[in-house]
Amino acid sequence: MIKILVDKVSSEKILVTSALPYANGPIHLGHLSGAYLPADIFVRYHRSKGTDVIYVCGSDEHGVPITITADKEKITPKEVIDRFHNANIEAFEKFGMSFDIYSRTSHPTHHETAKEFFKNFYDRGLLNEKKSMQFFDPKANMFLPDRYVEGTCPKCGNEEARSDECENCGALYDPSELKNPKSKISGETPELRETSHWYFPLGKFQEELEKYVDASNKKYNWKENVLQYCYGWFKDGLKDRAVTRDLDWGVEVPLEGVDHKVLYVWFEAVLGYISAAKELGKEHGTPELWKKYWQGGDTRYVAFIGKDNVVFHTIIFPAMLMAWNEGNEDKYILPENVPANEFLNFEGKKFSKSRGWGIDVKEFLDIFPADPLRYTLGANLPENKDTDFYWKEFQSRNNGELADILGNFINRTFIFANKHFEGKVPQLGELTEMDSEMLQTIASYPAKIGELIEKYKMKDAIFEMMNLARAGNKYFNDSEPWKSVKTDKAACSTTVNICLQTIAALAEVFSPVIPESSSKIFTMLNLKPVGWQNAGKEILSGGHQLNKPEILFSKIEDEAIEAQVNKLGVVDGKKEDDNLISIDDFFKVELKTAEVVHAEKVKKSNKLLKLNLRIGKEKRQVVAGIAKSYTPDDIIGKKVIIVANLQPAKLMGVESQGMVLAVENIDGGLNVVELPENVETGVRVK
Ligand code: 2FM
Ligand code: ZN
Repeated sequence: MIKILVDKVSSEKILVTSALPYANGPIHLGHLSGAYLPADIFVRYHRSKGTDVIYVCGSDEHGVPITITADKEKITPKEVIDRFHNANIEAFEKFGMSFDIYSRTSHPTHHETAKEFFKNFYDRGLLNEKKSMQFFDPKANMFLPDRYVEGTCPKCGNEEARSDECENCGALYDPSELKNPKSKISGETPELRETSHWYFPLGKFQEELEKYVDASNKKYNWKENVLQYCYGWFKDGLKDRAVTRDLDWGVEVPLEGVDHKVLYVWFEAVLGYISAAKELGKEHGTPELWKKYWQGGDTRYVAFIGKDNVVFHTIIFPAMLMAWNEGNEDKYILPENVPANEFLNFEGKKFSKSRGWGIDVKEFLDIFPADPLRYTLGANLPENKDTDFYWKEFQSRNNGELADILGNFINRTFIFANKHFEGKVPQLGELTEMDSEMLQTIASYPAKIGELIEKYKMKDAIFEMMNLARAGNKYFNDSEPWKSVKTDKAACSTTVNICLQTIAALAEVFSPVIPESSSKIFTMLNLKPVGWQNAGKEILSGGHQLNKPEILFSKIEDEAIEAQVNKLGVVDGKKEDDNLISIDDFFKVELKTAEVVHAEKVKKSNKLLKLNLRIGKEKRQVVAGIAKSYTPDDIIGKKVIIVANLQPAKLMGVESQGMVLAVENIDGGLNVVELPENVETGVRVK
């Protein structure tokens, strides 16, 4: 990772953070596209511009998923976080992330910072203590967080419901209503015990938060997805939020006599950005450095995240900083922008380690270099909507753009300079109209690209970077130096000079996206990076000695891509294709013909009808969501298909012993699949 504290030319001061990834699994390409690559492009651009910028990140090392992994693998949480913290550092380094520091929330500095915030709020009487009933596992001797309890949903009968929420029907309920609760730790039935927690009064800050979001948006043009999310929360009204949990893994609640309680992971994780900046200063022997960025009123703060983290960065963290600022002399700055990205999928589906769908960053970079990956991800960032990584696209971006446009332009120019000008920059002579236009074109790109990066439009910026290389190739073709070298050497000399100036500009403007290649180009030019302000100017003087060129981007063969595509969906050596089932799988579903003999509406539901069916000699009752398309009279007498071996379930309290096949119509209603009159009931459908 590269070091900070280089010469600063611009008067701007910027603090940049990327969401702290959980040290509970390896980083994948989706993470990179969300909160890391865009931030790294932004930061590298600002460094090139001479901005005083620091970029901090680190591992988020608390939270229940980490303790669940530890329990599963029968190791300690510390072993889990060490494994993934180190693996993720390695992956980020290989990918060329340029954090100034990659810290971790298990660090003592972080524990101190988080405790300081809690204690400050507590001492100022800002936190409310409230009692509630929560599940306790007597065998494991601990209170169970939501994810540790499973039971049957009191509303829909889903047997995998959480303690206070059912993912199947969306119901929220009191833990005391959950049926058959089971502890995921011991498998025992937990009991409800009283516990108490401290609550942060988020509602108290609603007005100030609304003003903050509006004002920041007006000034810095927040992304629409982020704004809509905030407005949604404001509309529902902000409520008190518990900031402590009954757990042993995390930052201990810093109060006398309070044991086995830690700070809620999100309350402390966001403070990790502050702790990391403190650590950075300490590493450089300037322990007060962090204040310059966090408490210098003129610093700009940009927080890069993925869309699942919006509320924590636009509402909860700002509210915590507001709460600090209203009671203390030293004031923190708030994010001026939170450019959250949507998600990246992999070949049309969500990344899933368990289904073997996707690829780890490290694994990827063991096979292919980082720059083509950075370029492909960057050109397709999920800035406004979810996007996909496709292996084929990776290949065509590498071969068709990096190699054939950028690489080819650089290569042909160097070949020409070596062959006809002794490997030196030839003199710039009299300019034709085309030469002058090209010089203007080169000069216009850095500002254009910089403006897009500053607006967080990285995709468009990358498109413009490649456009400069396209312009270079066109200029080379139109100038026909292979002809002028024989007829007008001075004109040829000017052409090659301008092409080399273009390459110097390309090296600088591409540096945020493909840093390794950019630095190779500078070496080939025998030049140090010139800084964004100088990019596009006439940097190379006539007679300047160039170094030997090298091939920057190797073509990726079809076989290499096919090998990767074939690996997809392979788990433990077995290929799992979600879309294909065997004939045996199909016959597990017993489809049978049936006739509706009676129908009535289900009470209090405008969607459900209760149907009595005849299936041969058998009678069954089924609940179907077809009330918007049929009255009971419409449906009686129809011959339909039923899934006969479905586990019974209760819908709105009425038992359903199967499912009638239906299809959605263009109005969004459901039509049953109807069979002709002459079909007998109770016959297997195949
Ligand atoms: O979603 C996540 O991966 C969280 N660990 C992000 C935390 S961001 C910040 F709060 F640290
Ligand atoms: Zn439910």
